[in-house]
Amino acid sequence: MTEVGIDAIEIWTGKLKLDLAETFAPAKDEDPEKYTKGLGLESSSFPDVHEDIVTMGANAAKRLMERRGLEPADVGRIDVATESSFDNSKPVSTYIAGCLEQTFDGDFHHANKGERKFACVAGTQSIDDAYNWIKADRHRGRSALVIATDTALYARGDPGEATQGAGAVAMLISEDPDVAALSTEQGYGSADETDFLKPNQQFPSVDGKRSMQVYLARMREALTDFESVAWDTHPDDFAYIPFHTPFPGMVRKAGLLGYRHMIRDTEIEDELADQIGRQPREEEFDSWEAYEGAIREYMDDLKETEAYRDWYGRAIDPTLTIARNVGNWYTGSVHIARASALKNAAETGKKLSGEKLLVGSYGSGAQAEIHAETIRDGWRDEIGALNVDEQLDRRYDVSFEEYEEIHDVHNHDKETDVDSLTRPAGEFVFDGWGEMNERK
Ligand code: CAA
Repeated sequence: MTEVGIDAIEIWTGKLKLDLAETFAPAKDEDPEKYTKGLGLESSSFPDVHEDIVTMGANAAKRLMERRGLEPADVGRIDVATESSFDNSKPVSTYIAGCLEQTFDGDFHHANKGERKFACVAGTQSIDDAYNWIKADRHRGRSALVIATDTALYARGDPGEATQGAGAVAMLISEDPDVAALSTEQGYGSADETDFLKPNQQFPSVDGKRSMQVYLARMREALTDFESVAWDTHPDDFAYIPFHTPFPGMVRKAGLLGYRHMIRDTEIEDELADQIGRQPREEEFDSWEAYEGAIREYMDDLKETEAYRDWYGRAIDPTLTIARNVGNWYTGSVHIARASALKNAAETGKKLSGEKLLVGSYGSGAQAEIHAETIRDGWRDEIGALNVDEQLDRRYDVSFEEYEEIHDVHNHDKETDVDSLTRPAGEFVFDGWGEMNERK
């Protein structure tokens, strides 16, 4: 059976850097450790005034296509996932195709284009669409370009402001992929929720604390659903577990939830029982509240065990390296978590071919999706070609006053006249409504 999955990855970060400890915390009169230790974030990537979801997505896709020697004729569909769309009719993929046609010979007239929306999980859903298109043999030998691109900005003063970010991840989905083959094992947890919304408004309305509970509840459902088709989930089955990362502190909670779930009825639970007891079973309690209290106590003890700490350090912590420095990229977030993991493996000389990842995606509103992937032989070269570290180092470090001015430029309700802080030669830039041009 032909394998289908991620053949190439490219990452494009917003060109500005907002340092949370040095710049944001003093301006907000907060302890820097709230951000660095509590949320787990060092800085966020912020879009300069010439950047938006189209320019970042097109720049990522251009680099991917150039690096892989692709022409438009090699790409049969362009799917863009975003929750920062500015057009309720024309999909962002058409704007991105228009940009790419300025660079490459040929056009994308033959390519199916779309825009996927379900908060942050839409990037993974777009990969699924591409997978199904190829598996259905409708692709005529072509690949799909999936682009997850967002400016994850919050109103100033919103608790989410510290978690902002901006960037794009372009992924090529093909037969016989170089990076990771998608498995058919997949689980969902989905419910109608109102914790994070953008009903015809630019910045989200968020019930932050509740959004964290909803994330964990849906993720738990998705794990249970996943186990109904892949019954042997064990923490040691997976080299890494990249989760959707709105901020690393959220993934600390998701990792613990996943571990508790996976060790149930395994030898790990038995071994830990000597130190902290067995996990509570629902049927042993008279009320849900009593059961929840016992679970909470068990989790508090579990996270202090050496077994859990070792596992977290190996399978979860390496997925957070990029997120710590860029903040939330919404649809791109779980895909930079995967890239962080693979970068970690390359940097530490790990052998990964044939190993599995468990990937946990999440979108508010709300849906979690869990699936397994198997790493392919070409992963090391592909990850070695990423220049994300250079891009992060090159970012312009904004002062708080510059940050506020540029935040106003991105706030469409306000009239502002601020120039770009960075000079993007050879890149696509936003030159005004519907005008995205390659800067010569
Ligand atoms: N030193 C160390 N740690 C500190 C600290 C200090 N001085 N001060 C606070 N902390 C810790 C807190 O204990 C807390 O950690 P725990 O949750 O582990 O207890 C953490 O830092 C954050 O502190 P607060 O809870 O006080 O922070 P807050 O209320 O100001 O904001 C938030 C947190 C509500 C999550 C906010 O960032 C927010 O609204 N974010 C946007 C919504 C979001 O990202 N939700 C995540 C789930 S939804 C999702 O994933 C979809 C998506 O992409 C948006």
